[in-house]
Amino acid sequence: MATAVISGTPVQFVDAGEGSPALVLLHAFPLHSGMWDDQVAALSPHRRVVAPDLPGFGSTPLSPAGGTVSMSGFADLVAGLIDHLGIAPAVVAGLSMGGYVTFALLRDHPEMVAGVVLADTRAAADSPEVAERRTAQVAEVAAGGKAEVVEAMVGTLLSDETRARRPEVVERARALMSTASAEGIIAALEAMRGRPDAVEQLAAVDVPALVVVGEHDGPSPPAVAEAMAGALPDAHLEVIGGAGHLSNLEAPAAFNDALASFLNRF
Ligand code: MLT
Repeated sequence: MATAVISGTPVQFVDAGEGSPALVLLHAFPLHSGMWDDQVAALSPHRRVVAPDLPGFGSTPLSPAGGTVSMSGFADLVAGLIDHLGIAPAVVAGLSMGGYVTFALLRDHPEMVAGVVLADTRAAADSPEVAERRTAQVAEVAAGGKAEVVEAMVGTLLSDETRARRPEVVERARALMSTASAEGIIAALEAMRGRPDAVEQLAAVDVPALVVVGEHDGPSPPAVAEAMAGALPDAHLEVIGGAGHLSNLEAPAAFNDALASFLNRF
């Protein structure tokens, strides 16, 4: 892992390969950059690939100490990293929470973005039900129930097929989620709950987009991805057969193929 201090935060990130535009991979909640290992291995022989740990996850500390975390704050940090590395504009791929950060990046730092991959994510803000669930999760984690919250997520993020037949993928997802600190989980839950709606933004996205979704994604189902791709001016939709919400972990070969074809456009 490399480190760069961005606005006082020591951001840890994977940096592999050469070639521009670089690909910046933004991880899901509550995972870290390690979820992209298969993508880094497959794509870095052809392209520079950068995958940061967002604050509070993996090896990047939650910051600023005592400050408020937001998707915009995460995007500011990613923009700072892109600038620091001199790789603007980059192709930015975000999965789920990483997609929420990508929307904030498109809104606040469009000059940093050459293209976007929106994987297993949604432009809409939280529904009242989801917001309520996050509030309950915050309380549960604060009361010491981090392991229970993570275990419930293992159940909802992976497809039935993955859970039934691929114990190694289940174990990897569980391990990636278990390293998150309680503070990081609480901060990100509150930040996701407070994120603005990005639906109106879609029509104004003026860079090429790839929308990827697992066929059995529960939290961000294919219908959501289809609507998002339809609202984007220049988007291709790729549905990954057999995968759930963590499509890059559940079907890395299909995910990598979709990413590689998209990168060929640049
Ligand atoms: C994720 O995978 O990042 C989460 O499911 C996002 C969310 O809870 O909205």
